[in-house]
Amino acid sequence: MLIHRTRRNRTSPFLRDLVRENHLRVEDFILPVFIMEGSEKQEIPSMPGVYRHGLDQLSGFLDEAMKLGIRAVAPFPAIDEALKNSRGTESTNSDGLYLRAIRTIKEKYPELIVFSDVALDPYSSDGHDGIVSSTGEILNDETLEILGEMAIAQAQAGADFVAPSDMMDGRVEFLRDALDGEGFTGTGILSYCAKYASSFYGPFRDALQSAPKSGDKKTYQMDPANVREALREYELDFQEGADMVMVKPGLPYLDVVRALAEVSDVPVAVYNVSGEYAMLKAAANAGWLDYRSVVLESLLGMKRAGANIILSYHAMEVARWLQD
Ligand code: PBG
Repeated sequence: MLIHRTRRNRTSPFLRDLVRENHLRVEDFILPVFIMEGSEKQEIPSMPGVYRHGLDQLSGFLDEAMKLGIRAVAPFPAIDEALKNSRGTESTNSDGLYLRAIRTIKEKYPELIVFSDVALDPYSSDGHDGIVSSTGEILNDETLEILGEMAIAQAQAGADFVAPSDMMDGRVEFLRDALDGEGFTGTGILSYCAKYASSFYGPFRDALQSAPKSGDKKTYQMDPANVREALREYELDFQEGADMVMVKPGLPYLDVVRALAEVSDVPVAVYNVSGEYAMLKAAANAGWLDYRSVVLESLLGMKRAGANIILSYHAMEVARWLQD
């Protein structure tokens, strides 16, 4: 006779619930929110169901998110092209869209955790995350100065965590020093630690009109072929004072999530990026996949890989489904 019958533990829904190893909870999610000026909302063509929200009508969207139990947001600004320049100076304009947005969110919902984005690309006329030299090089140390100013301005506006998504070397330590120097010792840092030079960011760049005007991001974002290097990035970011680290993208990089989860002393987040959202949405809209089940299966896979936190455009839908 067979001694081991693994199917015994799968015989009924109650039993499957009992032995389930991983779960999705609404508290696991950070909701990315695209923000623009005005009172309209515009659907992003490559991300059906995701909108750029005019700041004047953002509160309706936040009300809904709060009602569904969302507790953390990551706003990203769609900046008017006319306000962009090579140094991204609009990023520290206290009357500018982004800092106003952070203040608006924190005024309305002080308890909602705001993860603000630190990188030049939304404000850069070059569409790069750092300053571009006359020869096309992305300047590391010069960029750090601006990132430091951005982080301070965002902390002043009320951000709970600053999240550097730029991949400049040494930026976690630089931001920590900058924040501490201004008294923001309680402002945390979520580091985009292992951020790959991925083609899955296409729809996000559509949303912000932030694609690089020339070249690519391969001299600062990681080579998709590497995992050992991700551990090195983790080690540096942890030593430099990161409070949380993130792997990005998600689905094609679950081995990286696992590798970091095994060694990390701080929570590990994963960014289920725009292209991952677009893939499932497109397949579902074509009638080729069952949307709800593939979304939940994908996100559960991220938890199983070891992620504690998931940044996902699906967060609102999932929150709704978890209430059903
Ligand atoms: C840039 C940034 C990108 C994303 C978040 N921050 C794109 C890029 O690096 O070019 C992508 C997120 C997504 O695709 O959902 N700082």
